[in-house]
Amino acid sequence: MAKNIKKILTGITTTGTPHIGNYLGAIKPSLELATENNQRSYFFLADYHAIIKNQNPEEIKKSVKGVALAWLSSGLDTKKSYFYRQSDVTEITELNWILTCLTSKGLMNRAHAYKAAISSNTLEDEKKITMGLFSYPILMAADILIFNSTHVPVGKDQVQHLEMTRDIAIRFNHTFGNVFNLPEAIIPKIETLVPGTDGRKMSKSYNNVIPLLCDEKTLKKTIAKIVTNSLEPGEPKKFENCNVYKLFTYFSEADEIESLKEDYRNGISWGDAKKKLFLQMNDKLNNIRENYERVSKQKDLVNDLLVEGAKKVRPEAAEMLDKVKKLIGICKIK
Ligand code: TRP
Repeated sequence: MAKNIKKILTGITTTGTPHIGNYLGAIKPSLELATENNQRSYFFLADYHAIIKNQNPEEIKKSVKGVALAWLSSGLDTKKSYFYRQSDVTEITELNWILTCLTSKGLMNRAHAYKAAISSNTLEDEKKITMGLFSYPILMAADILIFNSTHVPVGKDQVQHLEMTRDIAIRFNHTFGNVFNLPEAIIPKIETLVPGTDGRKMSKSYNNVIPLLCDEKTLKKTIAKIVTNSLEPGEPKKFENCNVYKLFTYFSEADEIESLKEDYRNGISWGDAKKKLFLQMNDKLNNIRENYERVSKQKDLVNDLLVEGAKKVRPEAAEMLDKVKKLIGICKIK
């Protein structure tokens, strides 16, 4: 492989329905990076990460399909980017175990997700927290290191996991020789986290998401739920920190944003502001919706593409795993 080629890799955990936050924070910026020259991109469905949070098989299946359709409808071209399911590339889980044996418990103790889960520190917590949750960052390191990725587009909340990936890679390299590249996180330009309907970060765990692949009616209804303050029509409104305004900016050009700011100063009603947001989002998402309708009609397409994707990446994963296994002494007996 040519030197200096960028290897861009990112995954989405397949729990819940894909939402606007996934699209703006992960899918869109990743697909933009994938159009650059001199790169190779790996986009995958983190279904083994999903079972940490969700043990309902029907929901898992539905979400895998939904997230795959979100990638495809948003413009992922499987001829140009690798697209696969984590569980199909079994080399990842093998590497996960090897890395688990090299990772100190102390490093994992510091992971945000785990720390948040033990915040109340009761015996109940100890029962509830699985080893999957505790070791979550190691599986993520395996996802990334198996392909020697160089650039990993992720949300701000994943930066710590990238640091841990580097720590794990450094420890391996130090003990067994320079094998792993140290990957860099790429944080999308959206400076603030995409707000959900209640103003907190848009997240399936807060139940505040705007779905990416919904019909017009659902989009309108969800936008109507966005929390605003109680200022009356005619009263000037501040656009800073307004969720309706913030969402509008992600789908608009500079002059459209200026015009909405002016409307705020002139006391636009919340109903009208939301209507403007709806029209703007609806227009921008229409293309994705049309793709979705076309793609989701082809019965076996998602499955076929994922099987094909895994076939394409597995030789590279196997080569890395082989190298690692030789280094640690799990290899042919002479
Ligand atoms: N942990 C990521 C998230 O929840 C998903 C993920 C799993 C991931 N493995 C990854 C992201 C590897 C980037 C690289 O958003």
